[in-house]
Amino acid sequence: MRLRLSHRAQPFVSERELMNMQPFIDAAHQLVTQRSGVGRDFLGWIDLPDQQSTEMIAAMKKKASEIAQKANVLVVIGIGGSYLGTRAALHLLGHAVPELAAPSLRVVYAGHNMSATYLSELLADLDRYDVAVNVISKSGTTTEPALAFRFLQAYMEKRYGKEDAATRIVATTDRANGALVAMARASAYATFVIPDDVGGRYSVLTPVGLFPLAVAGVDIDALLAGARRAKQELSESDVSKNDAYAYAALRNILLRKGCAIEAFVSYEPGIHYIAEWWKQLFGESEGKDGRGLFPTSLDFSTDLHSMGQYVQEGARILFESVVRVKSPRHALTIPELASDADGLNYLAGQSVQHVNDTALRATMLAHEDGRVPQVLFEMDDMSEQSLGYLFYFFELSCAISGYLLGVNPFDQPGVEAYKKNMFALLGKPGFEAERARLLSAREE
Ligand code: PA5
Repeated sequence: MRLRLSHRAQPFVSERELMNMQPFIDAAHQLVTQRSGVGRDFLGWIDLPDQQSTEMIAAMKKKASEIAQKANVLVVIGIGGSYLGTRAALHLLGHAVPELAAPSLRVVYAGHNMSATYLSELLADLDRYDVAVNVISKSGTTTEPALAFRFLQAYMEKRYGKEDAATRIVATTDRANGALVAMARASAYATFVIPDDVGGRYSVLTPVGLFPLAVAGVDIDALLAGARRAKQELSESDVSKNDAYAYAALRNILLRKGCAIEAFVSYEPGIHYIAEWWKQLFGESEGKDGRGLFPTSLDFSTDLHSMGQYVQEGARILFESVVRVKSPRHALTIPELASDADGLNYLAGQSVQHVNDTALRATMLAHEDGRVPQVLFEMDDMSEQSLGYLFYFFELSCAISGYLLGVNPFDQPGVEAYKKNMFALLGKPGFEAERARLLSAREE
């Protein structure tokens, strides 16, 4: 139930270079552990694995089992950090071919886009299911989830009546502020609180992720146990002992060597949304003040047949962070074919995992020849424990990495720019001056 850093970008980064980072890592470690750095009011995620209220966990489980009994579809409404962790977890832990899955409860998403087509087709098909809704927004005012909830709330009340709808809707939001908490109070919805000191992208181990995961039948105790283990094992500042810190240091070294892009690579399709979660975590935490790596992701071997060409021979501006799952959920042995018509008999008796691992090894060697630095993570398996470990590992790395870079890893001021323009152009009250400015700038 671990994540280990087993290859540290050699030969592109030497052991000495990594060790030279130790004083800077020590300083970042102090900022996190002494809670003295910029953004220090948002370090609550550090304690989530071992300091959550048992009453709150019990209340979540109780409501989750109530919802799971009456619904077979849970609509999770949220965007960014308010839904990506749930999606990442369910994608990893769930059926590898979701289209063929028949779970007793399906989780679908809304409020992560503003597409009328998406929302209409979602609403049109809900009648075939027993529905529950978990609306999640820390600020309680984000446009995308608020818009989706307006439609979903109306749907639920029309279909079930106000009273029954209220038992099927759960709001996860701030304890006191924002429109959502007021709406939840007015309609007597069950609510779960997102702690003040945990920002969206660090919130998967709060009710933001834990509640919908519990409804979907995920063992949230095991998830937290994995995170707890990561917290214990990643507590030292020494980069030779702390893989999360070594990773943060390597990213920093590679950025300064001209690798402006980091690709999160995996060979298990179940990791696809973990990469999405990771992208948001690092992109939103570090991409500011004109700095930061651009995080992207590649699903291998699928993308070896598309982006693989670029990685091998394109501009030398990227490095890869590769995740290998040591024990995937299933083993499969390649059968012998009498005719050997496909020419694959040389693999007969071998496991598919061996072929996948060999693709990983071969690709790493090829990319090294192509001058692409790589780090390799070994994830024990695809269990709740390993996932909890991974979540905590990357949150910690991200905080350290942000401090090494000299940015506030916990704010996201740049996200406001599009919102301000959108509100102005949509005519939201209070944005009149901005609207006039934007429209006149266009006319000029
Ligand atoms: O990491 C973050 O803070 C953001 O990605 C938020 O999670 C996202 O913008 C959603 O915000 P909210 O939960 O307030 O609706």
